[in-house]
Amino acid sequence: MKKVVLIAGDGIGTEITASVKKILETAGAPIEWIEREAGLGAYEKYDNPLPDETVAAIEEHKVALKGPLTTPVGTGFRSINVALRQKFNLYSNIRPAITLPNVDTTFKEVDMVIFRENTQGLYIGKEHWVDGDDKSHAESIAVVTREASRKIITSAFKYALQNNKKKVTLVHKANILKLTSGLFLEVGREVAKEFPDVEFEDLIVDNMAMQMVMRPQQFDVVVTTNLFGDILSDLASGLVGGLGVTGSANIGDDVAMFEAVHGSAPDIAGQNKANPIALLFSSLLMLEYLDEKPIAENIRKAIYKTLVENKDACTLDIGGKGTTDSFTEAVCSNL
Ligand code: NAI
Ligand code: MG
Repeated sequence: MKKVVLIAGDGIGTEITASVKKILETAGAPIEWIEREAGLGAYEKYDNPLPDETVAAIEEHKVALKGPLTTPVGTGFRSINVALRQKFNLYSNIRPAITLPNVDTTFKEVDMVIFRENTQGLYIGKEHWVDGDDKSHAESIAVVTREASRKIITSAFKYALQNNKKKVTLVHKANILKLTSGLFLEVGREVAKEFPDVEFEDLIVDNMAMQMVMRPQQFDVVVTTNLFGDILSDLASGLVGGLGVTGSANIGDDVAMFEAVHGSAPDIAGQNKANPIALLFSSLLMLEYLDEKPIAENIRKAIYKTLVENKDACTLDIGGKGTTDSFTEAVCSNL
């Protein structure tokens, strides 16, 4: 059995994690869940949205599956998600966007994975007013280092090699941001030489945005800096049915945390309406990370079968007529 820290989180978190637990158990995944708390629920109980016990459990077991967390407003605590990424240096944010059967979208046959640098760029929180009290001139600092760029770009190439993807596309704005984006591109060209079996191309981010909408099928693995990755990964989710059907991984050298990209959906919490697919796909990334690829593939097949043959059992957000429970039962019986 492999021990994984499970943080159900807030809002629909309890419902979707229960669904994922049931489906993984039915599939025979050798996982022992170590349940810990975080988010608004933890804040209300312990006055701390990220209790030490939770951090210690992640430190000990190294792998976590996390439901959505409501970020308490007006407490000075920025975002627990961001705090966790920084605490464990989870520098790779990995977001696959794959067209699903029988989920209605304009775009067909999309199968791409975006690797977003998760710790640097414009997201380090270094902003200031240039003119003090006047507040009409602000500046923000972007950080790009050779070391962090090399890590994320290397993980994108390794992923391409291990998953039989033929091409890595590096996205940048080095024509304008000559130092920061230029460094990222330079490191990309160096790393590409170490992977001669993987094709390499670079695209300027504005062209990339257009290409993703015009012909998204041309992309396999995409690697980019924090801000571009934030925007393009949501764009990629939009190509395949939205945030409700996209999973994600946050991976560092030592620790990995898997989470859905949507929030805690307070408007539908406790109503048996939440779609567990996003967290389920995140759990499949986790199973692959834990070397349980065959089990992950079985579950993926059962989800696809459910979408095609039991669409009514699926939740309302993807055009079904069912509930969290009816979807979960359908997937389990297809397993
Ligand atoms: P949200 O993603 O929770 O909800 C946006 C809309 O999508 C709502 O109408 C919701 O019902 C729907 N939705 C989301 N997930 C769904 C699912 N699995 N099945 C069916 N419908 C779903 O975003 P919102 O409302 O902006 O944020 C709510 C809270 O979540 C906030 O406190 C925010 O800070 C937090 N949040 C947490 C994230 C995380 O933990 N990774 C990410 C985004 C937001
Ligand atoms: Mg985002």
